[in-house]
Amino acid sequence: MTQLEVTNPATNEVIERLEYTSHEDIHAQIERTHQAFEEWKYKDAHERSAKLLQWATLIDEHQDELARLITLEGGKPLAEAKGEVIYANSYVKWYAEEAKRVYGRTIPAHTPTKKLVVDKFPVGVVGAITPWNFPAAMITRKIAPALAAGCTIICKPAVKTPLTTIRLVELAHEAGIPKDAVSYIIASGKDAGDIFTSHQLINKVTFTGSTGVGKTLIEQSAQTVKNVTMELGGLAPFIVHKDADLEAAVDGTIASKFRNAGQTCICANRIYVHEDIADQYIERLTEKVHDLKVGNGLDEGVKVGPVIDANAVEKVLSHITDAQDKGGKLSRSVEDIQSLGGNFLKPVVIANANTTMKAMYEETFGPVAPVMTYSDLDEVIRIANDTEFGLASYFFTNDYRTGLKLFNELDYGVIGWNDGGPSAAHAPFGGLKESGYGREGGTEGIEPYLETKYLSVEV
Ligand code: SIN
Repeated sequence: MTQLEVTNPATNEVIERLEYTSHEDIHAQIERTHQAFEEWKYKDAHERSAKLLQWATLIDEHQDELARLITLEGGKPLAEAKGEVIYANSYVKWYAEEAKRVYGRTIPAHTPTKKLVVDKFPVGVVGAITPWNFPAAMITRKIAPALAAGCTIICKPAVKTPLTTIRLVELAHEAGIPKDAVSYIIASGKDAGDIFTSHQLINKVTFTGSTGVGKTLIEQSAQTVKNVTMELGGLAPFIVHKDADLEAAVDGTIASKFRNAGQTCICANRIYVHEDIADQYIERLTEKVHDLKVGNGLDEGVKVGPVIDANAVEKVLSHITDAQDKGGKLSRSVEDIQSLGGNFLKPVVIANANTTMKAMYEETFGPVAPVMTYSDLDEVIRIANDTEFGLASYFFTNDYRTGLKLFNELDYGVIGWNDGGPSAAHAPFGGLKESGYGREGGTEGIEPYLETKYLSVEV
């Protein structure tokens, strides 16, 4: 197989054919990226920052073009795709500034004849593997801190959505970032993973994707003891307590659950609502969910695009029918959910959910909102934490004691309190437990691209 066909999930039409990068060319690119590192690492932080800012300017100028590409290859509604470009660029802008804030320190010495110094250095050559659900943002939040730190980077975009990455890398080159300081390859996840994790000249592997693939990459990276950052799967609980502002909770649920048709790692997967307000919440959520316009992301007013492909349709439907078989009450019939055909699924609320349903213990990645009721806060916290995942969680409450208790006790790396959209370039994003390790975003997000060296001088 030498050609990759990129298809539009809204129409299933092929929109581009790309040559796969041969293994020989991947190896050659790694060598060139290593040579580029030998130069890029010596550029001063202000120069690296200026180049990143120039890239950010070009991304702003090409916002519409990039958004259209995201919609065409990933299915995301155009307005949301524009939001993604802005979000993606906020990482470039943030790390252009952070480049200038990589500080070392001096340590008070234990003897007057010594000076102890700590300094930070770039890790080296980075291999980045990114998913299809955020083809712009997941790549800039790796490229920008890597380049800011003085690393060079090769990107392996998802085979379903490589076009946005290709364009972003072209714009980086137009901005004056050296060609081999940032580049892309077209390869399967397996090929890129095998080569990146075993190659002596790759110093770091950064991956966003499933926990299963992440585990394989970690295992393979152990052979050369590579520095790795893993942003893996989620199973976000969304808790609505009895004292929540109901309307805000419903809007927060929609923001979290139906973003990108439910295909984000931090989407609310399982919803827990206090029994006192469950009927009102479900009624209001259903009204609003049924109002969401489903269709081709290029069409005006569409809020929910297609899911990525036929396999995704099948998986999401299996979660819906499993829930129905186990007593779930669907807000619309299975026939209605599929009535638009292709990769389109109308969003659905499932009342009467319980912990035996797949949708409550497996990542659904689709526009499905299963709602279970609870009466006891400690019990719902226990259920929310009863998973190997620990990426994002949400809760709605207007009581500060309840809020602080939930913040303290939920085992998650990202937590939204009365907030269905917590992500921001200036805040750390990442998971606990099997949702991975390392953080992207914020002051924390440049650290994984830096090594610490300690110097002791006898003066
Ligand atoms: C993801 O799906 O992992 C990314 C979500 C985000 O950055 O908000």
